[in-house]
This record gives sequence, C-alpha cells and structure tokens, in this order.
Amino acid sequence: MKGVLFDLDGIVTDTATYHFTAWSQLVKDEFGLKLPKSIEERTKGVSREDSLKIILEELNLSVDEEQFQDLANKKNKCYIESLEKLTDKDILPGIKELINDLKQKGVKIALASASHNGPFILKKIGLFNSFDTIVDPGKVTKGKPNPEIFEVASAQLGLTPKDCVGVEDSIAGIEAINSAGSCSVGVGDETLSQAFKRVESTKELTVTLLQEAWNNFVKEKI
Ligand code: BG6
Ligand code: MG
Repeated sequence: MKGVLFDLDGIVTDTATYHFTAWSQLVKDEFGLKLPKSIEERTKGVSREDSLKIILEELNLSVDEEQFQDLANKKNKCYIESLEKLTDKDILPGIKELINDLKQKGVKIALASASHNGPFILKKIGLFNSFDTIVDPGKVTKGKPNPEIFEVASAQLGLTPKDCVGVEDSIAGIEAINSAGSCSVGVGDETLSQAFKRVESTKELTVTLLQEAWNNFVKEKI
C-alpha cells in the first residue's frame, strides 16, 4: 500500500449530515416541502448539481436553468454557513491518528472529494497541509460512481490505483474505487456491501487494517 485516497464528507468530517440539512432547508424555504430521509443516502458522494437533479426528480419539480443555478447557489450558501463553526474537534474519530501514522510510514495521502468546499473544510479543521494532494473536482468530468476522481487522485500521488486504498462512506464512492482498481474500504452499514473491506466507524480505521485489506486485495484480485 503506497497511497490512501480519502473521501471527505462522512470520512474526514461529519459534514455529510450538513449537506442533507442544507438541502432540506432549501426545499422547505423554496417549495414548502419535506425532503425524504432516503435522499441523504442517494446524494452522498454525488456532485452538487447531480444531487439537485435527484432531489427535483424525487419531488416531481421542474425548474429552468436560471432557477436551477439559483437553487444550487442557495444550497451552497446555507451549507457554507454551517461550515463556519467547524474546528479540529469535527474531525471524525481516529482520522487524525490514521493520517499521522500513514505519514510516519511514508504512505502518501490524497483527497478525492466531489466537494468544491474541500480545501475550505480542510483549512477549518487544520488538515489542509496534511494531504500530499487534493483533486480539484472542477477538473473531473465524470462524478462518482465513475472512477475518474480516484484515478486522478492516485496519478497526482504518482501512483497507480492498484497501489492505493480508497476510503468512502457512499455507495457511489465504493463503486468508483472498485472501478478504478483500488482496494475499497467502506465506513458504514451493510448498504456498502460492495466494499472490499467494511467497518462501522472511522474509529476502526488504522494503518494495520488498511494494510491488511490491501494485502488481501492484492492476493485475491491481482
Ligand atoms: C460530496 C458529498 O463529498 O460533495 C455530496 O458527499 C455533495 O453530498 C458533494 O453534494 C458536492 O459538494 P459541494 O460542497 O461542492 O456542494
Ligand atoms: Mg462521503
């Protein structure tokens, strides 16, 4: 294992829930509707625009291009407001230790998040300088579950995907890691059954666990 490709929302910080809260607020303010909880899972790992498309379809709403952009901007404004109070206390359990241990072992780390707010969040929680590279989602043409973001992340580290482990909390993200040809480690419930290795909490993510998953992955798949 030469590199670890991290998702952000739901892996490094608990901001996955903030996305859903911001979408729920938008739908309430703009349409007086309640967003079903099932949307949270379906929009995890999915870009802002694609998330909005899923939401509008779910609620049977159609808007023109200008309204669409306006809704996406309003959601982002609300989301950014909720990020203001982020500090290093919002790093999910075990992640800081994992990053330090990976660095000590000479394993490179990349951020492979669909979020345009990634660098801002990492600065807020004091981890911006810890990452060897951050993928710019604006330069990725196909979002998760397409493997592109994980392929770009490993290339930016100077590695091939098979030398990397990807860590994700979303179904789309696990599919993307698998398609890229990296070893996928999922954090969450059994909906992430496609992950090569799955744990329930970020607390369980240690260098040993990732290394063992990668060793087994190489034995089985390569
Ligand atoms: C992903 C989240 O990390 O980023 C998605 O899981 C979100 O829920 C996507 O839609 C895009 O984020 P942002 O911050 O650019 O709107
Ligand atoms: Mg996520």
